[in-house]
Amino acid sequence: MMKHLYFQGEDSSRPTLLLLHGTGGNEHDLVGLGKEIDSSANILSVRGNVLENGMPRFFKRLAEGVFDLEDLQARTEELKSFLDEAAQTYKFDRDQVVAIGYSNGANIAGNLLFEYKDVVKGAILHHPMVPRRGVEIPVMSGTPVFIGAGKNDFMCPAAESEELKDLLQNAGASVEMHWHEYGHQLTQSEVQAAKEWYKANF
Ligand code: MLT
Repeated sequence: MMKHLYFQGEDSSRPTLLLLHGTGGNEHDLVGLGKEIDSSANILSVRGNVLENGMPRFFKRLAEGVFDLEDLQARTEELKSFLDEAAQTYKFDRDQVVAIGYSNGANIAGNLLFEYKDVVKGAILHHPMVPRRGVEIPVMSGTPVFIGAGKNDFMCPAAESEELKDLLQNAGASVEMHWHEYGHQLTQSEVQAAKEWYKANF
C-alpha cells in the first residue's frame, strides 16, 4: 500500500494522471500541476515510501545522484503493483495512465518505463536522470514521453538528459525534449510546454 490521494475526474474517457513528487515532497505537491495539465482527468497522486532524513522519496540513494539499484528495482515493482491495485479499487482504465514526475518522481517513472512493457500510456518527466544503465529496455511502440530539462541542472547534466532521450528513443518511444536555461527547477514555461504536448498526444 502506498499513501496517496485520488480524485475522480469529470470525464471518464480522459486518462488517469499518476503524480510522483520530488525528494522531500508528498502526495499533495503535484495535484495543482496535474489539474493544470488536464482538469478533467482522474488524479492518483502517490507519496514515496522511503524516508531520507525525514524526506519522502520513491527509492533509496547512496549519495546525491547515486541510486541504490536494488531498492530502485523493489520500489519500482511496489509502485507498479500499487498502480494495478488502485485501478481496481477506483475503477479507472489501467491502460490510460499517464505518469507525471518531478526529479526523484521522474526517476522512478523513468524506471517504470525501463522495467515494464506498456506500464503507462505516456509520461511527462520533469528533470529526470538515467535511472540505470546497461539494461535492456522493453520495446515501446511510439509511447509518448516528454522530458523537461535544464541546461544548467547540476543534478542532471544536459548530456545525461540527452542520454535518457536516446535510450528511450532507441526503445521506440516518441520523445519530445524541452530545454530551459536554468537548473533543476520546474518553471512555468516548462509546465506550459508539457501541457501543449499533452493536449497534442492525449
Ligand atoms: C534522485 O535521487 O532521484 C535525484 O537525485 C533527484 C532528487 O532526488 O532530487
